[in-house]
Amino acid sequence: MSLQQEVRQEFERRFGGRPAFTVRAPGRVNLIGEHTDYNDGFVLPMAIDRAIWIALRPRSDRRVVVRSLDFDQTAEFSLEGLVKEHAEWLEYLKGVAWVLQEANYPLQGWEGVVGGDVPVGAGLSSSAALELATARTFAAVSGFAWDAATMAKLGQRAENRWVGMNCGIMDQMISAAGKAGHALLIDCRSLETQPVPLPPATSVVVLDTATRRGLVDSAYNERRAQCEAAARFFGVTALRDVSMAQFEARAAELDDVTRRRARHVITENARTLEAVEAMRRGDAVEVGQLMNASHVSLRDDFQVSSDKLNTMVTCAIREASCYGARMTGGGFGGCAVALVRSSSAHAFAASVARSYETATSLAPNIYICAATNGAEVVQGLA
Ligand code: GLA
Repeated sequence: MSLQQEVRQEFERRFGGRPAFTVRAPGRVNLIGEHTDYNDGFVLPMAIDRAIWIALRPRSDRRVVVRSLDFDQTAEFSLEGLVKEHAEWLEYLKGVAWVLQEANYPLQGWEGVVGGDVPVGAGLSSSAALELATARTFAAVSGFAWDAATMAKLGQRAENRWVGMNCGIMDQMISAAGKAGHALLIDCRSLETQPVPLPPATSVVVLDTATRRGLVDSAYNERRAQCEAAARFFGVTALRDVSMAQFEARAAELDDVTRRRARHVITENARTLEAVEAMRRGDAVEVGQLMNASHVSLRDDFQVSSDKLNTMVTCAIREASCYGARMTGGGFGGCAVALVRSSSAHAFAASVARSYETATSLAPNIYICAATNGAEVVQGLA
């Protein structure tokens, strides 16, 4: 049974009658452009065929009643006087309700069932998917217009201000605005997006190391602070505004760590734009090389990789069918991503699983992913 059917069936069992709406919002994998979003730079993620689904109907009062399939819990809250608590998954829904109300969207209550297949904590943005599914639900129930960039910014605000994670805009933006069959170039300053087709006959394969990032918030915030310090040194708003030539002219004046952090962001922005051109030409070899270079830069200059991520990337790029691979997302654990010849994708997955397990004694999860649309109300049964 599909997840869509599962949430609908559970809705009928719990609440009686048919759901009025079914919404989905996807997780994501980033192909290239890592740790560039909070530097006003460029990212190239795609929305994946793993998503959060909600089957729901409006209520006449201002209560939200939600059954979670994954956590086997039913919880509820009132839209009046929202307060932060500890029941984790529910806080994402409350946070979104809070930012929407703060931005003067009039909200109505609803009841529904939520379920998903975005692995939690793997770096595939299950939180952004839950935030955008919630925003899409409120838009459907309360009848306000859906604007992807506006909703992404509000989702990010919920994450920053309610959940307390200081993330950039990439995850929410791709979950809101993804395009089936395409990656999305996002200019994280203007929030303009351009769909970019995947190279013909290639597949995107997500390689979950089965390790989870540890004290990631502090390392992430530290990287952000280092990037801001580098931007101040160059006298610009964000590292997006520093060209390679400007960097090289003054790099020697920077301390070693700041120099590495800035070099990663500046070269990664350039690689991302080059990858877009290569994808438009259908040049999978070039895209793969840029992904490999991105990994080296994240490992050596930005220093957010891990032994397991490095091992996974090594296992992947050893395969003849692999154009390139890199760690993806925040780092320190979670997933790598590979671009692979489609006809060999299953054999690639099996072979990498074996070699990674031999090297680490860990069993990885491997997903061959299709690029899907961003958050949407789904008509009919998928
Ligand atoms: C996390 C954050 C994103 C982005 C990536 C790194 O996924 O949520 O905003 O900064 O790390 O590219």
